Amino acid sequence: MAEVEPSGTDLKFKRILLKISGEALMGSSEYGIDMPTCLRFAQEISDACETTGAEICLVIGGGNIFRGLAGAANGMERSQADSMGMMATIMNALAMQSALETIGVQTRVQSGIRMDEICEPFIRRRAIRHMEKGRVVIFAAGTGNPYFTTDTGAALRAAEMHCDAMLKGTQVDGVYSADPKLDKDAVRYDHLTYQDVLARNLRVMDASAVSLMRDTNIPIVVFSLHRKGALLDILTGQGLSTVISEG
Ligand code: GTP
Repeated sequence: MAEVEPSGTDLKFKRILLKISGEALMGSSEYGIDMPTCLRFAQEISDACETTGAEICLVIGGGNIFRGLAGAANGMERSQADSMGMMATIMNALAMQSALETIGVQTRVQSGIRMDEICEPFIRRRAIRHMEKGRVVIFAAGTGNPYFTTDTGAALRAAEMHCDAMLKGTQVDGVYSADPKLDKDAVRYDHLTYQDVLARNLRVMDASAVSLMRDTNIPIVVFSLHRKGALLDILTGQGLSTVISEG
């Protein structure tokens, strides 16, 4: 990382968890990990950390490699399929660690399933120390349990890390009344309550993740990761997004 003194000023959220879908790592490919795309995300994270001094942890899905639900639909026992999905998230975490380290960002991967030869086990207090030291912590293997999603894993880690917000990077810059790619009249919401999302089944994240964010009063910020500088903008309270919170 370049020698830039973090200003810490104008910072809306001091510590955040960024959730990225596995599919986002595919870039324009149909499957797998596109390293130039990982490097682009890594640069966004690096710029945001350097400029603001924010503490960032990451959860990445696994759908670019294997989806537990799809495996189960295909006749595989659900727990087995979910274990495979969790291993996919570990591959993505290692790829992002590599991308971040390529540009000089100190990174630690902690996994919810022990895989001591390749990454640290999840130890909450240790993860907090890593973040306090300016390291980006990537949480892999979801919650470490089947029948949960990486959204729920992200919500759980955001709560455990006492994050000020969970940022969900998506294809579009917020939550819309309809799919903006299909409906030109779709409108973007600036703000929604947790209850709006749950009652209207808006599918921002699965219901258990939204409920946990409501119970712990952590806002969810939905924004587009595709625009350069978007993460920095969100951290400083700018840019387009939908904020989901209580009030
Ligand atoms: P400090 O205690 O703040 O110095 O943190 P640190 O992570 O730099 O120290 P540590 O000596 O614990 O770790 C050094 C390196 O080993 C880091 O890259 C860790 O991610 C890695 N590491 C630590 N524990 C494990 C583990 O159980 N498995 C694997 N694969 N790597 C580990």
